[in-house]
Amino acid sequence: MFERPEGGQVVVLASVNFGDPDYLESLSELNLLASGAGLTVADVVQGRRDRPDPAHFVGSGKADEIAESARAHGADLVIFNHELSPVQERNLEKRMQCRVLDRTALILHIFALRARTNEGKLQVELAQLRHYATRLVRGWTHLERQKGGIGMRGGPGETQLELDRRLIAGKIKTIESRLAKLERTRAMQRRARQRGGVISVSLVGYTNAGKSTLFNSLTHAGVYAADKLFATLDTTSRKLWLPEAGQVILSDTVGFITHLPHTLVAAFHATLEETVHADLLLHVVDSASPNRDRQVEEVNKVLAEIGADRVPQIVVMNKIDLSGLAPMEARDECDNIARVALSALNGAGIELLRKALIEFVLARRNPTTQQIETESYGLE
Ligand code: GTP
Repeated sequence: MFERPEGGQVVVLASVNFGDPDYLESLSELNLLASGAGLTVADVVQGRRDRPDPAHFVGSGKADEIAESARAHGADLVIFNHELSPVQERNLEKRMQCRVLDRTALILHIFALRARTNEGKLQVELAQLRHYATRLVRGWTHLERQKGGIGMRGGPGETQLELDRRLIAGKIKTIESRLAKLERTRAMQRRARQRGGVISVSLVGYTNAGKSTLFNSLTHAGVYAADKLFATLDTTSRKLWLPEAGQVILSDTVGFITHLPHTLVAAFHATLEETVHADLLLHVVDSASPNRDRQVEEVNKVLAEIGADRVPQIVVMNKIDLSGLAPMEARDECDNIARVALSALNGAGIELLRKALIEFVLARRNPTTQQIETESYGLE
């Protein structure tokens, strides 16, 4: 349905510094995103502006410079480190005579590559349809003259473009209703779990913090973990047995990222819902990242956006083998464990987290509901 960049395709990145303190980090993230999509970055063209140019975003002079670089490097795709309006995207393509994608489209593309469950795939497809619905003109204008061809729906005078719009609108409706059905099933499963008194724990964190690795080392589930942004897209849930405390449900979730477009947060609302309804969040932090404090803030911001800021959190300072921290736990003023330092990779400190989980579950759980029926929750 969509023209997607192909693996190995040579691209030029374009990025404008508007004085944002996170500018360099977002640019290096764009690089990671592009290589995560299998693209080869030939050049990065940067500029400085006070505000975006309404017509070309970067201004026409800079657009020519980017086009020149793309020609020189044999790149037929330019990716902007920003959200472009459909008009800006169209103007840029016209002026530079090559395809242009914005940051959102690239993230969507990666989401499409990574989505594994049926629900995840549908969510990505829906977000893509919505994103492209406003940009349909590209690549379709050459068909606009075929008005009212024989056998075309809509009768004479209707353009191909309008037909395509109608097709997309229909498809959006179908996907929405399939997603709504899946969401109902998920809600039912959640209620069953809650009735059974099963405690659910969700892993959240900035992308690449090590959530999947921690999920694996806690559950030995063999979930895909890779040094790539957004290796995990969908929520994966597994039962975790804790000695003394019994069964909890542990869910791995999509990684967060700076400037994750709001439309995408909305698209993953259903998946993130597991987070909102969790009894406890394990907020996984890459303690070795120079940006760790900002990443923590960014994750907390998204959690607040989806209404999950009231769920209790244990901060897991991961990757201590790289940051040189010692395994440890720290308590808050109410004597609850608030922070654990560990390495999900080599296992140092994992026992502290297990103990913290047991402590949380025992404090939460009504002793009479300890006998849980575990097999009927519809988990993978
Ligand atoms: P997303 O799916 O993008 O949200 O990532 P994630 O948070 O699930 O991270 P993942 O578990 O995929 O780990 C990212 C990278 O960090 C992988 O290369 C892991 O091997 C590595 N990693 C995870 N935990 C540790 C750790 O404790 N120490 C070290 N050195 N590397 C780790």
